Parts: sequence; structure tokens; C-alpha cells
Amino acid sequence: MADNVRVTFLPDNVSTLVERGASVLSAAVRAGVHIDAACGGSGTCGRCKVRVLQGQTSSPSTSALSADEAARGLVLACRCEVHSDALIALSEQARVEPSALSSVPAATAAGPGAAEHAPAEFVLDPPVSRLDLELPEPTLADNVGDLERVLREVKRQHGINVTQIDPMALHGLGTALREGDWRATAIVRSESGQTPRLLAIQSGLRGAGCALSLDIGTTTIWGRLDDLASGTTLATASDYNSQVSLGEDVITRIVHAEQPGGLQRLQQSVVRTINGVLSRLIQDAGIARHDVVQATVAGNTTMTHLLCGFDPRSIRRAPYVPLASSFPPLRAAQLGIELPEQVPLRALSAVSSWVGGDITAGVLASGLDRDPRLTLYVDLGTNGEIVVGNNEWMASASCSAGPAFEGGGVGCGVRAAAGAINAFRIDRATCEPMVVTIGQAPAIGVCGVGLVQMLSELYCAGLLEPNGRFADPSRSPRLRERDGRTHYVVVEAANSADGVEIVLSESDVENVLRAKAAMYAGIVTVLEQVELSVDDLQRVIIAGALGNFLDLQSCVRIGLFPDIARERFSYIGNGSLLGARAAALSREALERSERIAGSITNIELVDNARFIDNYTSALFLPHTDLSRFPSVASDRRGCGEKR
Ligand code: FES
Repeated sequence: MADNVRVTFLPDNVSTLVERGASVLSAAVRAGVHIDAACGGSGTCGRCKVRVLQGQTSSPSTSALSADEAARGLVLACRCEVHSDALIALSEQARVEPSALSSVPAATAAGPGAAEHAPAEFVLDPPVSRLDLELPEPTLADNVGDLERVLREVKRQHGINVTQIDPMALHGLGTALREGDWRATAIVRSESGQTPRLLAIQSGLRGAGCALSLDIGTTTIWGRLDDLASGTTLATASDYNSQVSLGEDVITRIVHAEQPGGLQRLQQSVVRTINGVLSRLIQDAGIARHDVVQATVAGNTTMTHLLCGFDPRSIRRAPYVPLASSFPPLRAAQLGIELPEQVPLRALSAVSSWVGGDITAGVLASGLDRDPRLTLYVDLGTNGEIVVGNNEWMASASCSAGPAFEGGGVGCGVRAAAGAINAFRIDRATCEPMVVTIGQAPAIGVCGVGLVQMLSELYCAGLLEPNGRFADPSRSPRLRERDGRTHYVVVEAANSADGVEIVLSESDVENVLRAKAAMYAGIVTVLEQVELSVDDLQRVIIAGALGNFLDLQSCVRIGLFPDIARERFSYIGNGSLLGARAAALSREALERSERIAGSITNIELVDNARFIDNYTSALFLPHTDLSRFPSVASDRRGCGEKR
């Protein structure tokens, strides 16, 4: 939050902090100021005109503004970037109903998201290191073998007593030493509690090399390259997991793996994506492929099985036993990853079939296992995972939220890509929506973050009932009927990317309700099992791609997260990738990840009667028992006053 600027909107004098370079429209969304953004911020409708009174801003020229308007200082809010503190006046056209904005909760104007959670720190001490060696040339008086010479100098120059030799390290050893004129680099794996092992010798002095860390997600694969000498991140990259074409979620992929050749197809598919990510990382970092000396991956249990080529079929059948929870070191090249033959690959250990190495990694990165405060770690996704505990105990659970948070299973849902609506507000007086899309491109649909905000806003504006049914269509011209069912028109056809209106149906609402009910019920049930309640939580750490884009108030208002003090919430980002990186850079972190996976008690929610009860009660906005959401109960009196 270091490089933020304050944007203040007149005439209501509402202000908010945004990152330098953010658009005026995104600042308005954050501040709860309503601007008519009919095209979702794609710069085509010309309805979001505002006037910059103070501050440095930049705007591209646009045909949506006349020369006269530009001369009068008008800009498009969706195209205008803010580079310093700024004062913005709403034009009459952009402004929808300023008087109603006084009911915007202060928390929203102050900033809707959770604070950032700093990852745990570890000493840079990688489990695989590359060691430069200046070797004395053999003489008649010193004519020990090449291998012994290397081992002797590793001990003498680096203090590491290597007693295990990978047979592969002998291939080309003599040539490498002589070609490098007796300067060489030894690659040694020395994990805590294990005998150091020589993996390879490279000719010449090459420096410490790099570590590859990967988060193998069901939908997306994220990679990161870090310099092993300094711990500096050299590059990050991501791509959609191409396994998606073989099955949208984990279950369908396991089913596919059971077909003849299916496991191999899935394995090759994920490796293809990894190789693409790796190539981009190498290019962006400006390193050679042989500078990567180790690979560390974190993924859910099924993804790890599929990457390693392990049969995952028992994961989806009671009693849900994986082939393995902890994985021996493998060779990246053996799996098809385009790295030198000796590069080891470590997959972080899983807790259970449904709480994988990605959660182990997240707990590691968050430092939950080292903190005495009672903490809830939540990873939102198709499969929502929860860990509750502190430095003395930890319990986990997994609940099948369905794909709604990733834009799946919802008619208007899309992945979080350019054109996806990710911010949404409804003017309390006119019930007119304000939509903002990712990249401010023409609207293509609504992503998970947008869906959460949409339900919250519709509920708050009185257009959506607690049971997920829309109010009477007379409440808003955006509520329309088709085939006897009411739907809400999010974007009119003329303003969408493909000329078709984007609508939210009651069955879409139902799917989001199911997803949020599963997450909330999972949290409450795990806490009940350890005889605690949400009020006992001292910290809530949100992980996952949605995390820092989620509007915390919206999440609580729809009953996704418990209604506790907002300052207890923080966001860690991609905990899985952060944890994989920690394990790649620190022997202590790698060892700790093993301890975390082994010490978490997993609670099965399938067939758990309390979970089913809690789930059923949570299928309402925000819950059947409103006393569990006291701030929503009082907030609703304000924002729902016009009903
Ligand atoms: Fe800015 Fe349409 S031109 S929202």
C-alpha cells in the first residue's frame, strides 16, 4: 500500500485510497460513489464523464468526448488514470443519485478489501545449492580420482561432507572438469536430516543458480523463479492449466484419468502448461535453462497425483485415500519438464485427499503454525479449504463449493479475464447498476468477485430477497420476467461485448448461495468440532486468486465470511506459490512443511450431520439466523430503507 493516492469526489466529499495509476472509475467503485458506467468501463458509452478539479491525471484522446467537452476539462472516468491525490467532480450525466450515497457505509468508503498479510520469513538456506569450486589440477603427488577431488574440495571450500553420489553425477564428470580448466560447479542436495548428495557437476564457475517454484492449480498454473544467492524474485508467470479441456474440475479429471490413456493425457497436458510457463520465466529472467537447479511444486492432492503420473482414482471414493500424501524427491525431467536431467522436483506434502500440498504451503507461508493466535486460513476456490488453529494445533476441512467463485456453473459467469465484471454497485435511489470490467474491456460476463458483490448489492438494494428470489419486477426496470421467472439485467445488449444482454437468473443466485453456504458451513463446522465459535477467531487469512479483489463487506453481507471485526481479516495472495517458494529457498521451511502436513487433523465434512445442518441454514442471505450477522442486520436498515 506504499504507492497510494487519495481520490476525493465532489460534491459529497467522499474519498478513498487507490494505487497510483488506477482509473477514476475504479476509485469511484472503491469509494461507493455511483457513476453511470453503462459499458462497464470499456470507453464506448461515453456516460462516465467527470471533471478533474485538482491532481495529476492522464487520459487518452477519445471520440466519446467532444472537443468542447475536453476543453471544459471533462474526462472519461473509466479512461482517466490518477497519478497524484486528486479532486474529482461528478458531471450531471455521470452522477446518478448523489444524495443516496450518504448511506454508503463508512467502511466501504475507507477501503473494502482486507489488509495484506506479510508472508512468514525464513533464512535463505536452500535445500539444493550450486557450489563454485576452484580445483587443484591433478599431479603425480595428488592423483586422486576426479570424483574424490570434487568431494574433497566441496568439503574444504564449502564445509559440506558429501557422502552420497548420484550415479548421474559421474556422467561427463572428467570432461566437465577439464573443459572448465579445473573450475567447476557442484550441485548438492542437502535437506535437513539427510546425507548430502552430489547431483551433478557443471564446468566453469556458474554461481548459485535459480529455484523454480510452481503452484499447480486446477484452473491456473503459477510459476516463479528466484535467485538462490539473494532470494530475489527474477520472474513470475502464469497460464491456464490446459487440463481444463479434459475436465473442468478435479472430479471430472479423476474420471478422465480412469479412462484408457487418460492419466497419461492429463499428465502430459499439465506438463505442457508447466513448460510454457517455464519458458516464459526463463526468458523474462534472462537466465539459461541449466541455471535452474531445483523445482518445488505445491498443488491440491489430485493435481499433484496427476503431475507425478500417480493413479488418483481412490481420491474420489470413500474413504478418500490418496495414493500418497508425501512424495519422494522426483526428477523434473522424468516427468517431462524441460529442465536438466539432474534437477530434483519436490512436491509439498498433502494433509489428505482433499486438503493438499497447496494448503500445506499456504499454512507455511502464512506462519499460522508459528503464531499463538487462533487463526482461520481460507482458500477460496472450486474446492474450498479451511485450516483453523495456532502454533499448538491445527484442524482442516475441505468443502465442495462448486465453481461459482471461479465464474463457473453460473449462466452469466466467466473467469476473471478481460471484460469480466469484477466490480458492481447499485444506486440506492434509482436502483441503476454501475459495472466495471477487468481491463475495462466490453463486458463479457461476471467473474466470482463480481458475483459476490452483485448478490450483496442486489440484497442491500432490496432487489433480492433473503431466500435468493428476486423482488417484484416493479421495483426496478432491470428486473424482467421471462418464462415466468424473474431475472436481473446486469448489462443491456447494446453495451455488452457480443451484443447480448448479460443477465443474472435466480438459478445463478442459487449456485452462488450454495457456494457461499458450503464455505461458511465448513468454517462453522470445523470450529464446532473443536468446541470454538467464530467469535474466538483472532485472525482470518484469505488466500487464493480472488482474495485481495474481494469486497470484505460484500462477503460478510452475503454470509460467506463470519461477521467479526473486519480488522481481523487479511489477505495473503497466492499462499500456495509463496509456500512453495519458501520451501525452495529454505531447508527449514521445507522441513517445516513436512511437519505441518503431518500435524494437521483433517475433519471429513462428507456425511457430517452438523455440516449438513449448517449448510442448510446458510442457504440464505446472509443466514437463516440473522443474529449471527449483527452488522448486516443493522446495515440493512440503512441500505434497505427504500424498500
Ligand atoms: Fe466510461 Fe462507458 S465510456 S463507462
